[in-house]
Amino acid sequence: MARDHLLVIDQGTTSTRVIVYDLRLKPVGQGQHEIPLTYPRSGWVEHDPRTIVASVGAEVTTALINARVRAEQIAAIGITNQRETTIVWDRATGEPIAPALVWQDRRTADVCNRLRRKEGVVSRLTGLVIDPYFSATKIAWLLDHVDGARRKAEAGQLAAGTVDTLLIRHLTGGDHLTDVTNASRTLLMELATDQWSDELCELFDVPKSLLAEIRPSAGDFGATRGLDYLPDGIPITGVAGDQQASLMGQGCVSEGQAKCTYGTGAFLLAHTGARIIPSTHGLLTTRAATTRDEPPQYALEGSVFIAGAAVQWFRDGLKVIHDASEIGDLAMRGDPEGEVVFVPAFTGLGSPHWQPAARGTLYGLTRATTLADIARAAMEGVAFQVGDLIEAIEEDLSEPLAALNVDGGMSRSDAFLGFQADVLGRPVVRSPETESTALGAALLAGLGAGVWSDRATALALLASGGRTFETARGYLWRAKALERWRRAVETTRGHYR
Ligand code: G3P
Repeated sequence: MARDHLLVIDQGTTSTRVIVYDLRLKPVGQGQHEIPLTYPRSGWVEHDPRTIVASVGAEVTTALINARVRAEQIAAIGITNQRETTIVWDRATGEPIAPALVWQDRRTADVCNRLRRKEGVVSRLTGLVIDPYFSATKIAWLLDHVDGARRKAEAGQLAAGTVDTLLIRHLTGGDHLTDVTNASRTLLMELATDQWSDELCELFDVPKSLLAEIRPSAGDFGATRGLDYLPDGIPITGVAGDQQASLMGQGCVSEGQAKCTYGTGAFLLAHTGARIIPSTHGLLTTRAATTRDEPPQYALEGSVFIAGAAVQWFRDGLKVIHDASEIGDLAMRGDPEGEVVFVPAFTGLGSPHWQPAARGTLYGLTRATTLADIARAAMEGVAFQVGDLIEAIEEDLSEPLAALNVDGGMSRSDAFLGFQADVLGRPVVRSPETESTALGAALLAGLGAGVWSDRATALALLASGGRTFETARGYLWRAKALERWRRAVETTRGHYR
């Protein structure tokens, strides 16, 4: 039977999706499963890792049925995942010792504050900032708060990793591997060498023996073994963190090309080629995905923690909409001249502010304020956060971005992209492929498996074009709105300093 399809597992913060692609990178079937998050305390965000693993099995089966493709037709598997989310498990059984600490989880804010004096060396080595967002302090927290965990870790009985590593362990029956893009988000990998750093492991109190072997994003990540839903021997040949995967899926593979993905959070990445550009404006320097034959590639990243999560809050928290797609209509009913400002800092502020203790705030309420005004302010708040990222990235690069290509859930809303163009005062281009994350993983898996002769052949398969959203509001509105936004962010930061 011809091996003429690729299977991609896209394990995100709110759902697990499995998509089957043909070798021209066209999706032919998929399965999707919402993943519950729990919030046991203020600033804590958890998943049950067993639910994540179980969702993969169920959705692989659904996707294959929907695609009318047999498992024997799968040439290779690609994995892309929510980054930084941290799991510690028993090396022998694979059983997690505790819930997964999700990237949004802020419980280690105090530890990060105590380590602040090391900021210089840490950011020079990793390209990151000391923040609970990343995995290192989460691993140490689990070792110190789960009974007997540190002792077991020191005895070599535990393994730690991000979601890619958890899934590779499950799919292969035991391999302990990660890819360089995921490793670059832990605060434990040296950006210049792609290796775990002894100095950082010591600083964050993470035994290096817990960590997985780091490999290039397209290459060998073992093969399926011992599963009841896939036969043995299907190779896993592409693995990347979701933002680096979508950078590739948007065809951004060389210096100066940028994209923004609106998922649970919003992530703006600009490819910087082979250059490691340290940020002086609160951004992150991170690894871009590469195949095993390529020299290392990098990106500058702005990470905003709340984007689609704000919409989810309207749906599941406030329960004022039934479906996420209703938010655009609700926001459009808000007063366009309204002065409500919503800083969606539910789990702190990420780039460029880095205030883990900040929380969401609403300003400018009057007796005339309606729910629609608040929804509008929330959408504008997401758009303003992305505006802050663009400003920072352009200052770091000392040049304007050529265009803003966007994808991900919120990019499907015309209303939201209108707000985004208004806030930026420049056009926004919706990618023809709103699922560029999974597409990027398919590309990596195909490249890793040698499906295409070279990368250019694969990139030529990506769709081009996309709908452009022009700015509809004048300079004066933007200047006033921006001033209100800046004051609100300043106050939000100030409250929690
Ligand atoms: O860094 C966190 C990011 O990888 C999560 O992505 O798509 O789940 O918002 P998403």
